[in-house]
Amino acid sequence: MTAQLIDGIALSRQLRADVAARAAALAARGHKPGLAVLLVGDDPASQVYVRNKVRACEESGLHSLLERHPATLTEAALLARIEQLNADPAIHGILVQLPLPAHIDAHKVIETISPAKDVDGFHVASAGALMVGQPGFRPCTPYGCMKMLESIGCDPRGKHAVVIGRSNIVGKPMAMLLLQASATVTICHSATPDLAAFTRQADIVVAAVGKRNVLTAEMVKPGAVVIDVGMNRDDAGKLCGDVDFTGVREVAGWITPVPGGVGPMTITMLLVNTIEAAERAAAGAAG
Ligand code: GUN
Repeated sequence: MTAQLIDGIALSRQLRADVAARAAALAARGHKPGLAVLLVGDDPASQVYVRNKVRACEESGLHSLLERHPATLTEAALLARIEQLNADPAIHGILVQLPLPAHIDAHKVIETISPAKDVDGFHVASAGALMVGQPGFRPCTPYGCMKMLESIGCDPRGKHAVVIGRSNIVGKPMAMLLLQASATVTICHSATPDLAAFTRQADIVVAAVGKRNVLTAEMVKPGAVVIDVGMNRDDAGKLCGDVDFTGVREVAGWITPVPGGVGPMTITMLLVNTIEAAERAAAGAAG
């Protein structure tokens, strides 16, 4: 059996068309949606990510404000800038690209962003809302993974989902979203002694570790849905995920490629969250 591909580029195109229509409708009412993206320092990967985020905004008719700050920016100055953006009615979403330089406390920075503008979904208020099933912004990568499952008609209800990785950005919120969708969820991580014993039972596997070949063919149940969140380089410098794609695609029922899978969906869900924030702000302004 060769797995069918879950095409993150095609799905993104569909979802971004909806974002663009909603952005145009808001702009026509005088509420052009705006995203502020803050980059501190000159990490090369972060520079690429923020450039892609800003470009995606422009293409969908959102206003974006890209601020590059030197690595020497003080924590106090960054917090003060976030407070200004919290109060700026033209800005509906605030994203501070991570990682931050070591002298800046990322937790403090995230907690300074107004939860109403927390389009990354990293604020403790957003994480808490997800935990208790209340409305709030969902972190973009796991949110995008859920959309990918939906796009292939995979309802997690009653399924066994295994999440590999326990980060605050992907693993933990992914597990909560799957649980909310009534899956039985297992979270595996670096201290899990026999990963394969869990993944072999899984109907859905989400690999979010940041290491190549974490999931290989013999670890996958035939027909399973495999979502690869990893973004790594192979020995030849080519982009690859956490999953041994060539082997696993012969066993799985569905699989996301890298590149062209989860990556574009992360940016798409950032746009969706920003539009949502702008629509809520516009409704508040009207009411
Ligand atoms: N660094 C890596 N991924 C992300 C992300 O989704 N958001 C932010 N703000 N920083 C990141």
